[in-house]
Amino acid sequence: MIKRKLVAFTGSGISAESGLKTFRDSDGLWEEYNVYDVATPEAWHRDRKLVLDFYNARRRQVINAKPNDAHIALAKLESKFDVDIITQNIDDLHERAGSTKVLHLHGEIMKSQSMLHRQLVYAIKGSELNEGDLCERGAQLRPFVVWFGEEVPMIRPAEHVISQAEIVLIIGTSLQVYPAAGLVQFARPGVKKYYIDPNPDANIYLGNTEVLNSKAGIAVPRLVERLMTDNYE
Ligand code: APR
Repeated sequence: MIKRKLVAFTGSGISAESGLKTFRDSDGLWEEYNVYDVATPEAWHRDRKLVLDFYNARRRQVINAKPNDAHIALAKLESKFDVDIITQNIDDLHERAGSTKVLHLHGEIMKSQSMLHRQLVYAIKGSELNEGDLCERGAQLRPFVVWFGEEVPMIRPAEHVISQAEIVLIIGTSLQVYPAAGLVQFARPGVKKYYIDPNPDANIYLGNTEVLNSKAGIAVPRLVERLMTDNYE
């Protein structure tokens, strides 16, 4: 049986119920930190230690977090659908929930990257990445994260994946950060979409979309139940 192609496009909202802060909510990370101090190439050149400390703290939170019911439900969908997760999140909760195809647009916090030889990427043992942690060619390692103002290398593969989808779920993203937010436009016209967010942006028009005005931990398992039973043969 050929499985239908389903894409779940996720943002920080899907990890909120795992205890990881979103970015732009009232208690979001960007309320606490200035983006330009911790998430730009300029910040890295200005104060590496501040940037490394920011991501070390975030990495400790990710290590202590657990996938929630929304992550787990998406993994369950793989028994009936050919599921691709396209996430803006740098946490590894989709993989830890059992999802097998996860494309990270903005990098992965559990990995480091050589600041000079960008093709050199390593898994981080433990939670800390510090000054003096070098790649095999002697260059300082940086967090494997896409900072504001940097290229998004995985955007083209993601556009291709979403253009093949027969169903699209949009979960926990404010759709404010480009080019990621533009991805939904690459879905084929008329494809059924589900937009899950407790504060959905009313100005966002996605076409043929069912808006589920609720938290992911509640709405995603319910939607997955529907999709698993609905006649999508
Ligand atoms: N369930 C579902 N959605 C939620 C939940 C929840 N429990 N809690 C909050 N949300 C929603 C918010 O209403 C908001 O629309 O998640 C969205 C989070 O939006 P942002 O904080 O803007 O995060 P995101 O869209 O992932 O940010 C995109 O911006 O800062 C950069 O690189 C970073 O990948 C990130 C990108």
